[in-house]
Amino acid sequence: MADAGKSGLQVTLKDVHRIFPPAVVAVDGVSLSIASGDFVAFLGPSGCGKSTLLRIIAGLDQPDQGQAIIGPDHFCPAFGCDTPLDVAYVFQDPCLLPWRTVLDNAALPLELHNHPKSVRRQQAAAVLEQLGLADALERYPNQLSGGMRMRVSLARALITNPKLLLLDEPFAALDAITRQKLDEMLRHLWLTRNMTILFVTHSISEATFLAQRAIVFSRRPARVVLDHAIDLPQERTVQLRADPTFARHMASLQQALTLEEVEQ
Ligand SMILES: Nc1ncnc2c1ncn2[C@@H]1O[C@H](COP(=O)(O)OP(=O)(O)OP(=O)(O)O)[C@@H](O)[C@H]1O
Ligand SMILES: [Mg+2]
Repeated sequence: MADAGKSGLQVTLKDVHRIFPPAVVAVDGVSLSIASGDFVAFLGPSGCGKSTLLRIIAGLDQPDQGQAIIGPDHFCPAFGCDTPLDVAYVFQDPCLLPWRTVLDNAALPLELHNHPKSVRRQQAAAVLEQLGLADALERYPNQLSGGMRMRVSLARALITNPKLLLLDEPFAALDAITRQKLDEMLRHLWLTRNMTILFVTHSISEATFLAQRAIVFSRRPARVVLDHAIDLPQERTVQLRADPTFARHMASLQQALTLEEVEQ
């Protein structure tokens, strides 16, 4: 659970290129520096290379040129170290194991790292409680709503106390009210834990609500077209969405995105 002494990981991308054979250029020279503990949203047209970039940062894929440095001391697994428990990845599909209970799904990363059963069950219960799932520990995935399944997926990612949390359109399939609740929950988790968050979304309003900084990428191949600071209050509730400053941030992001989509 929360570890006051722990800070988020920095992410440094140096001139990252990724070309899929025979000639799909997905990422074309992206350089970015993301500070420890920052919350950054990635926006860009469909197919521009956002997931590719996130996979490279996670060490699930390797750049053809350039470097992704997770650090200052950690390098991506692709660059030669074991998969660190410090990095967690959440996909749009919760990817739960249907034959396991909520508790056993959330505990899986600790099981894979041979933590004793009593420890992993106790830690899974604690993180699930934090995500409002205390009453659902013994249920199976097919007995949960979509929002609950996503919260289990988040719990499974958080159980290792990651210092870098990567999320790829995690709430895109949810209804608007559930999505707002999960956005607020994620903000709260970020404020109470020391972790860096990179969040891919197609929603300008979700990016503005969640992040401290939004990066807009060009249509494929991904290049940075806007790097925008979102200086809104730390405590964010649904009322913030009606604030004129919120609308101004959204307008800046919308303008950059529209230029990319129009030129497709
Ligand atoms: N393993 C792969 N092999 C070949 N091409 C790939 C591979 N992965 C991605 N691509 C291509 O790279 C480009 C970028 O894909 P990517 O999934 O990163 O885009 P995205 O920005 O995440 O899109 P979306 O917003 O629709 O999720 C696309 O043209 C895609 O078809
Ligand atoms: Mg994607």
